[in-house]
Amino acid sequence: MGNRNLENKVAVVTGGASGIGGAITRLFTGRGAQVVVVDLQKEAGEALARDLGDAVVFLQGDVSDWAVADTAVATAVERFGKLDTLVNNASASRQKPFDEQTDDDWRLALDTGLFATRNFMLAALPELKKAGGASVVNFGSGAGLEGQRNQASYAAAKEAIRGLSRVAANEWAAYGIRVNVVCPMAMTPGVVQWAEARPEQYAQSAAKVPMGRFGDPERDVAPIVAFLASDDAQYMTGQTVMADGGAVKLR
Ligand SMILES: NC(=O)c1ccc[n+]([C@@H]2O[C@H](COP(=O)([O-])OP(=O)(O)OC[C@H]3O[C@@H](n4cnc5c(N)ncnc54)[C@H](O)[C@@H]3O)[C@@H](O)[C@H]2O)c1
Repeated sequence: MGNRNLENKVAVVTGGASGIGGAITRLFTGRGAQVVVVDLQKEAGEALARDLGDAVVFLQGDVSDWAVADTAVATAVERFGKLDTLVNNASASRQKPFDEQTDDDWRLALDTGLFATRNFMLAALPELKKAGGASVVNFGSGAGLEGQRNQASYAAAKEAIRGLSRVAANEWAAYGIRVNVVCPMAMTPGVVQWAEARPEQYAQSAAKVPMGRFGDPERDVAPIVAFLASDDAQYMTGQTVMADGGAVKLR
């Protein structure tokens, strides 16, 4: 039998229909978890749910909408009896120089990144408290850590998520809730789009990875998220974990 380190866990995974989120949904269910997937993409979400059977419920919705966060939590409890794992993976942004980014660009990055993360954390809190040994995994980015060009609103949202995660780690440790951040680097539809739009920047990023490649969402990134969600990481909170082939080394 393979690794079953998420046996009996119930998770909400935002943006869980494709890309890294899709890989997380697959790996989590393969390791014994039941998952509520929240995503804008109806077709991809429904296909994934069909594929993975009873262990997955798909909820179409925009993560920046409070009501969607509440519905996701209620769905986890109704369908699977509890909620002990929250993965705030969804995010959207537009890449442009700082002085060209509009209020609308900023709203997109902050609403889908920072505010969605906050909303889902607060919506989940009562259930996470009840669960005992709960885990929240939020998503940062090397773009924020390194101040990557054309990513002003995205970098700001991602660094705000790291700040929020450290505060929540301190405040929620009393409830047995751990909060950590993963900064991935993986080949996903979002990255493919970015690579096509900005080939020089993509080539520079790839050249900076000591392991010589962008990661694979399912083999390289999802297992790190699974570790943080599992009881194996029970003494780990408030951390940022780089899942990026060594591109950024935090100290
Ligand atoms: N891929 C990378 O190399 C990389 C690097 C750094 C950080 N990240 C972060 O990792 C996470 C996943 O990245 P990815 O490359 O898989 O992204 P992606 O763009 O490929 O996929 C994001 C998923 O979120 C969904 N989504 C987007 N906006 C939504 C909304 N408003 N409501 C509901 N669902 C929404 C999309 O439909 C999609 O399924 C993101 O937080 C991203 O910022 C990724």
